[in-house]
Amino acid sequence: MTRRVPTSPSLREQLQAQLADCKMPGALEALDDVLRRCDDGALAPGEAIAAVLGAHIELRNARRLQTAMRSARLPAVKTLADFDFSFQPSVKREQIESLHTLGFVERKENVVLLGPPGVGKTHLALSLAVAAAQRGRRVYFTTLADLLHSLEDAQAAGRLAPRLRTLVVPSLMVIDEIGYLPITRTGAMLFFQLLSRRYEQAATILTSNKGFEDWGEIFGDDVMAAALVDRLVHHCHIVNIRGNSYRLRQHRDLARLLQQDGATRRQAPAREDATLPQG
Ligand SMILES: Nc1ncnc2c1ncn2[C@@H]1O[C@H](COP(=O)(O)OP(=O)(O)OP(=O)(O)O)[C@@H](O)[C@H]1O
Ligand SMILES: [Mg+2]
Repeated sequence: MTRRVPTSPSLREQLQAQLADCKMPGALEALDDVLRRCDDGALAPGEAIAAVLGAHIELRNARRLQTAMRSARLPAVKTLADFDFSFQPSVKREQIESLHTLGFVERKENVVLLGPPGVGKTHLALSLAVAAAQRGRRVYFTTLADLLHSLEDAQAAGRLAPRLRTLVVPSLMVIDEIGYLPITRTGAMLFFQLLSRRYEQAATILTSNKGFEDWGEIFGDDVMAAALVDRLVHHCHIVNIRGNSYRLRQHRDLARLLQQDGATRRQAPAREDATLPQG
C-alpha cells in the first residue's frame, strides 16, 4: 500500500495561487475541504480533482444563471428535475432529456411546445432556457405580447432594423404564449420578420395553446401564417402535450369539466408528437 503524504502548507498555497490565477473562485473555496478529505483518505486523487472542478462548475453555472435572470428576463427558474413526468404521460421523457442536451441550440433548430393551459409548456421552455444560460449561451425570454409591443415601439421610433438585429443575437429565444391575445396585422408582420431573420441563424422556442391549424386565425392571415409555420417547422422539434393542468391537480373534478368543455369546442385535434425530419 502506498503511504499517504499529507498536503504540505506550501503545496496548499501553490494550489490556492493557481486557482486564483485561473479565476476559479468556486474551486478555491472548496480546496481546503477537498484537501482535508484527501488527507483523511476519504477521497482518491481522481475524486479530489473531480470535486474541485465540480465546485468550480457549480459556482460558474450559478453565476451565469444569475446574470441570465437579469439579461434574459427569465420570469422564474424551472428545471427538468422539477418536472413531474408521471403527471404528464403524453410528454416523452427521452425527447425532453435529449432537448436538454441543447444540440438543437448548436444546430439552430426550433422547439414548439403545444398544449392547453397549465400542462407545463412554459415550465419546459424555461428549463431549456436555464440549461442554455448555464452553458453560457445567450438567452432571451419574452411573451409574444411583450415582443410585439417592443417591436411596434421600435418601428414607431424608426428603430426597427437595429431592434431586429439585436433580437437575432441570442442563441436561444423563448417566445411564450402564442394564441392567448389577439395580434394586429402589423404585429403579425413584425413577428414574421423576426422569425425570418432568426431562421437558420439561431434557435427559437415557441409555446402555444393552439395547434398550427389555428395559427391563421391568431395572425389574422392564413397565407402569412402558412409561410411562418413553414419556416418554423423546417428544423423543428414539436412537443405536443395533451393532459390536465398541473395548476388544477388538486381540483380533479373542475379539471375534468374544463377538459370536456375544451374538447367539445375544439374543432381539429392537435398534431401528433413529432420531431420533423431535417432537410
Ligand atoms: N409536470 C409538471 N411537473 C411539475 N410542475 C409542473 C408540471 N406541469 C406544470 N407544472 C407547474 O405548473 C405551473 C403551470 O405550468 P406552466 O406555466 O408551464 O403551464 P403552461 O402550459 O405554460 O400554461 P399556460 O398555457 O396557461 O401558460 C407552473 O408552476 C409549472 O412549474
Ligand atoms: Mg405558459
